[in-house]
Amino acid sequence: MKKISVDDLRIGMFVHEICGSWMDHPFWVSSFVISDRNDLITLQKSSIREVWIDPDKGRDTEPSAPVASPSLVPSLLMETIKEARAIKVATQKTSFEDELVLARGIHARSRGVIHSLLTEARMDIPVNLTTAQHLVEDICNSVLRNSEALISLLHAKTKKTYPYLHAVAVCALMIALGKQMGFDNNLLKRLGMAGLLLDIGKTLLPLSLLNKQARLTDEEFEMMKSHPLLGYHLLQNLGIDDEIILDVCAHHHERMDGKGYPDWLPEEKISIYANMGTCCDVYDAITSERSYKTGWALGQAIRKMAEWQEGQFNRTVFHAFVRTVGLYPSGTLVQLKSGRLAYVVEQHPGSLMTPKVKAFYSTRQNVFIEPLMLDLSKCGDTILNVEDPAKWNFKASHL
Ligand SMILES: [Fe+2]
Ligand SMILES: [Fe+2]
Repeated sequence: MKKISVDDLRIGMFVHEICGSWMDHPFWVSSFVISDRNDLITLQKSSIREVWIDPDKGRDTEPSAPVASPSLVPSLLMETIKEARAIKVATQKTSFEDELVLARGIHARSRGVIHSLLTEARMDIPVNLTTAQHLVEDICNSVLRNSEALISLLHAKTKKTYPYLHAVAVCALMIALGKQMGFDNNLLKRLGMAGLLLDIGKTLLPLSLLNKQARLTDEEFEMMKSHPLLGYHLLQNLGIDDEIILDVCAHHHERMDGKGYPDWLPEEKISIYANMGTCCDVYDAITSERSYKTGWALGQAIRKMAEWQEGQFNRTVFHAFVRTVGLYPSGTLVQLKSGRLAYVVEQHPGSLMTPKVKAFYSTRQNVFIEPLMLDLSKCGDTILNVEDPAKWNFKASHL
């Protein structure tokens, strides 16, 4: 039996006895499992300050992970981003097509690097972080030259490559989002590393759980929910002491409405970095094909996330994220007013509605046409709607 402060109570704990008079709290019984958030808040707001919990009958207290200090966020950053909201997409130093050549090399190398990293972590042998750091540096340089080339390549994942390429994709998205938010290079690399490692705790879960084809049972889902803290402790054991990397790992499943896990942190206690991790992680997960579902079309995913933004994402972070990937992210298949089908290849710096696209198919004649680059801000054609590539049987190789 443990006596704890009501502030340390969590959903799932078994309250054995409430310390204080029954008149000080609204519960009819004094022994019960805290099964919902309202009960937790009621108890925390009552005049009761301490309770006895029984760890054998419910969740035990865990040392929860600290949140990265807000002082790390460059001053006035949030205000600056708010003002920049209406302005533009981060500038690109090289063209999408040129960067694609270099990005293919990084893409090819990354799978092997992450595969060894995750295997070493799973087998509990010393993890070589230097190779991972070099990879993050290369990803960072690619994204700084052109934030879309590598990310568009990383959309094409199979069920088998997902666990490796998800880490690389979240890394690249974190750096691109940080670039959009105006962070310096050093911070971008730390965020990239945080993205690369945020799901590392999953390596400690059984493969049968990770590869399960069907939906998870409640019990399995509870087990899956342990990965942020497992990852946090694993990273600490590996000697990582960067508070941003640790914070993003521990808190990338917390939510603005306080319904996240593992700590049900309220909005004001979730760092901007952890929420950047949430945004990038959710986006990549819902746009990828997984063992139990097919991925969503890119343009649809960002619209779905906009519907969820209140509960899940920090508004400023989410707006910067939309500017990063675009309303029509590169790689999105769109139908143009002219009847042509095209893939989006580059965002327009001043308008999210008029990206550059590569047209390659005529829906009027139902034939492939000679690929043609179109700048929708200049050529007079416009996007009619987002199309699902699966419906047309097109592959990302048309990029
Ligand atoms: Fe995760
Ligand atoms: Fe994830």
